Amino acid sequence: MDRTKWPALIGLVAGTYQLTSTFGNTFAVDKPVHSSVVALFSLAATLLLLSRFLPRADQQARNGQGYNAVPLQDVHAEQTPRRRSSTPGFQEVSYPSSLRKLRLVFLLLVAVICARVAVLQQVFANIQCARRTWEVAIPLLFAISDYLGSRRGTSSDTSGEHTLTLYGIWTRRILQAPYRYVLLVGAICVACTIAITTTDSPATSYICATTLPYTWSVPLLQHIGGTALDVVLLFCLGFLIRQDEGKSERSAALWLSTVGWAVMIAATLLSICGGAYYFVSDPEIRRAIITIPSAFTWSAVKLDLLFCFTATCTLFCIYHIGTTTTTLLLLFTATVTSTTAFAWAHPHPFPIRSAGYGFAAVSLAMFALIVYFNVEAMSNASDRSSSNATFTRVPTLVYLVILLLFGLRSALWVQHDSLVTYHPIDLLIWEAKQQHDAYINQSTISTSLGEAVHNYRTRYNRQPPPNFDKWYEYATERTSIIIDDFDSIERDLLPFYALSPEEIRERTWELISNPWNDAAGLSIRDGKVEISPHVVPTHRWMLDGLVEMIGFFAEWLPDMDLAFNLNDECRVAVQYEDVEPMRAQGRAFGDPTASVRNAFSPDRAPQWTPIPEEPIDTTPLTELSFQRTFQPFGSVGCPPSSPARSQNRWSLASLCTTCTAPHSHGVALSNWTLAGNICHQPDVANLHGLYLSPAAFKGSHNLLPIFSQSKAHGFNDILYPSAWNYMDKAVYRPSEEYPDPDWTAKNSTLFWRGATSEGVSPGSGQWKGMTRQRFVHLASPNTTSPSQVILLPTSRSTNTAPRLQYTSLSPSVVRSLLPVDLQFVSSILRCGGRDCDDQAAEFAPLAEPSEFQGHWGYKYLLDLDGAGFSGRFLPFLHSNSLPFKAALFREWWDDRLTAWVHFVPLDLRGQGMWATLSYFAGVNGTIGGKQFEVEGRGVEGERIARVGREWAGKVLRREDMEIYFFRVLLEWGRLTDEAREGIGYSGADGS
Ligand SMILES: *[C@@H]1O[C@H](CO)[C@@H](O)[C@H](O)[C@H]1NC(C)=O
Ligand SMILES: *[C@@H]1O[C@H](CO)[C@@H](O)[C@H](O)[C@H]1NC(C)=O
Repeated sequence: MDRTKWPALIGLVAGTYQLTSTFGNTFAVDKPVHSSVVALFSLAATLLLLSRFLPRADQQARNGQGYNAVPLQDVHAEQTPRRRSSTPGFQEVSYPSSLRKLRLVFLLLVAVICARVAVLQQVFANIQCARRTWEVAIPLLFAISDYLGSRRGTSSDTSGEHTLTLYGIWTRRILQAPYRYVLLVGAICVACTIAITTTDSPATSYICATTLPYTWSVPLLQHIGGTALDVVLLFCLGFLIRQDEGKSERSAALWLSTVGWAVMIAATLLSICGGAYYFVSDPEIRRAIITIPSAFTWSAVKLDLLFCFTATCTLFCIYHIGTTTTTLLLLFTATVTSTTAFAWAHPHPFPIRSAGYGFAAVSLAMFALIVYFNVEAMSNASDRSSSNATFTRVPTLVYLVILLLFGLRSALWVQHDSLVTYHPIDLLIWEAKQQHDAYINQSTISTSLGEAVHNYRTRYNRQPPPNFDKWYEYATERTSIIIDDFDSIERDLLPFYALSPEEIRERTWELISNPWNDAAGLSIRDGKVEISPHVVPTHRWMLDGLVEMIGFFAEWLPDMDLAFNLNDECRVAVQYEDVEPMRAQGRAFGDPTASVRNAFSPDRAPQWTPIPEEPIDTTPLTELSFQRTFQPFGSVGCPPSSPARSQNRWSLASLCTTCTAPHSHGVALSNWTLAGNICHQPDVANLHGLYLSPAAFKGSHNLLPIFSQSKAHGFNDILYPSAWNYMDKAVYRPSEEYPDPDWTAKNSTLFWRGATSEGVSPGSGQWKGMTRQRFVHLASPNTTSPSQVILLPTSRSTNTAPRLQYTSLSPSVVRSLLPVDLQFVSSILRCGGRDCDDQAAEFAPLAEPSEFQGHWGYKYLLDLDGAGFSGRFLPFLHSNSLPFKAALFREWWDDRLTAWVHFVPLDLRGQGMWATLSYFAGVNGTIGGKQFEVEGRGVEGERIARVGREWAGKVLRREDMEIYFFRVLLEWGRLTDEAREGIGYSGADGS
């Protein structure tokens, strides 16, 4: 059996490496019990198969070499020639001694496996409350138990010491001391603990509610149910595997089948319990149990194979080199893999990590491991009776690997810097100015219709739509600055060129003929706008606003019907693989040199099927309210290989720094456009109401022509200026009673009021991930959210050369330094089951309803998504206050505003909220006994507020909404025209 030792060792290291690097992103943990049961069954099958084939193959090989295969150690076991050649079955498993003890251990093993799976499920259910576990100490425990077990009968050997130097004696004493392994293993465990603590992602804002018991029950479960059970599990395995120290084929077959059967019985018991649970539970839960998402299956199979492989290798390693060394290798490989990957991905000052300590700790662990192997080999050479040593001579390969790792870690250490020489936000503000200038330079060039037409052709590679001259006139009469850049319309409409006008008409009709769809119709006939039948009265104002808006330019629009989304949530997400070819078709549409007719086709009206008086009862939409929508809808617009589609960031306890890195500079958000792209952010699946549990989500994967006020990335709705803003539902209107004072007279607090209306929390704790809840929780004084990061000057900084450092502060300290007032108003909405009370307790006390115009008294106004876009943002922008915006949804104006020039962007995860606020508001107080007096950049804040206000007054007026909408509808008119190719505007430049 010795020939399995090397493969097992290598397999153990490789498997642990692979598991550590992929486990954090697997979909398999979405259903921990399913995955565990499958993994256990396959492990059992593997072990039982191995027990059948491995010893026999081994024996044949040895027989072929003329080796005497009858092992002396096996004499205790029943052995008749007939029996020996047969496979050991369950009943056949017999043991040399203490059969009762073995049976007990066997039953204990089965019980522990079952309990471990139950614990796993409980911990995963509230993983955001998980803390670091004590698993690191397991090897040390086994080393101590080895030491206690072997102490009897050993005496130190001092002979021959007189020939050695003092150092030699000392080394030899230590290396031969009976507790030498305990020392070395202890050193490695301590080193690994330090390495892990110094490379930790900051915590997320996902809520671990203080008012619920999970804050203490989950860590308790992790320690008692996790670490302790693992120790017992390993003890049982060690006992079963190594009870017969003689390593013959016979005993290998024995332990393989014993462990195999134990695992098999545990898996069967778990399946029976699962089945029973299924039959006693509600239909809702039943459905949840049996729905298996496709991403899960594939991910679970991969993890399953990897687990079987690693677990089998682990068992063989326990067999060959003992539990202590095996767990030590596991710990070492896992720690080095995870910490090195982290160091590799994070060379920058944020997230905070003590690169020096981390490097020292890993180096110590590597050194101690090498010494450990050498000591083992030495003891092995001097005492042949113990055949447990990993190596008889430590192979060069091991030194090489360790050396390589050491080199890599030194390089990573040297590369890491923990100081910042300038404030990232200074840089971002400077960059944003350039970006905004570049935007103006390309969006406002045209000064005549001819130039506008020319620029349209160069930009979009086709002729402008019919009546473009009328649009130009309309826009210039209303002094629109933006004439050329309407890329957002192009982005929205591109895929629709792949549909025929008839298909578009049909799909529009399907949408507005059934009121269940929550889509309202508007008909344009002979330059008049009318509301179609079947409109819910509550949304009447919205359609009235639209009619008013379109009324200004309806005379230039062709006859057509339009479908408007009445819900806040967006609707249409076409799979990336389908929509990309459609976009390509769109790009190929038209010819900038074609001669076209400047008129829509006549006789368009009869082509639109009338809306039936009696609603139809078919629908192209699927009801998805109250469900998780990220995998089925949110991410389908992303490339298949993107993290959003291929990874599942299930660890809610730590910030996904690889998700934020592409759009962040340190803790600050650096690229607003990219931040809205969820393809590199698999973690937002758990961080927004739209993805966790939307209130009204009726969606489709078919390209349906529906107009929405806002949408998240990957959705194909067509954006239009919201009637909410157009109709001044929320408006900037300061008065005597609620004035908008000068910047310096404002209260220097970050302010937010709102309701829990982002999504519905029907009873499974979905609220814990929603953006509004998370931000309020971050700022709430009576809860313990995790420690927060801000940038503070270090003692080394001077006036000319600032040296800043990210500093982690406890939430209470940071709250005492920076004034925030974020609260929910009146009562908890959109909740069910226990989630109403849980939220009421966690967010108590709720604020009194306040007057909207009261906002202007505060310097910093936080703006957060609701179930859709936030209707307050535009009024905020028009005021003298500075808006801070965190949003998933994007609106029609997104290209027009530049983050850091017109408003302050925040990441949805909230990790930068305090640092950004401290940049503007300054820090003045005592932190850890040190007095800090950092002046805020209030001047910058005031400037952004002013520039944003002025810019909004130029490009986000009611007129600008009309101009934008006019242009959308002209393009839409061409798209729905049977003569699409032959119409357009080709005049004005002489062609
Ligand atoms: C932000 O990201 C977008 C999309 O990837 C990119 O085109 C743009 O150049 C980036 N902007 C800045 C300022 O880096
Ligand atoms: C500023 O606002 C906060 C929170 O709303 C309030 O507690 C505080 O008293 C206000 N400060 C001043 C000077 O009005």
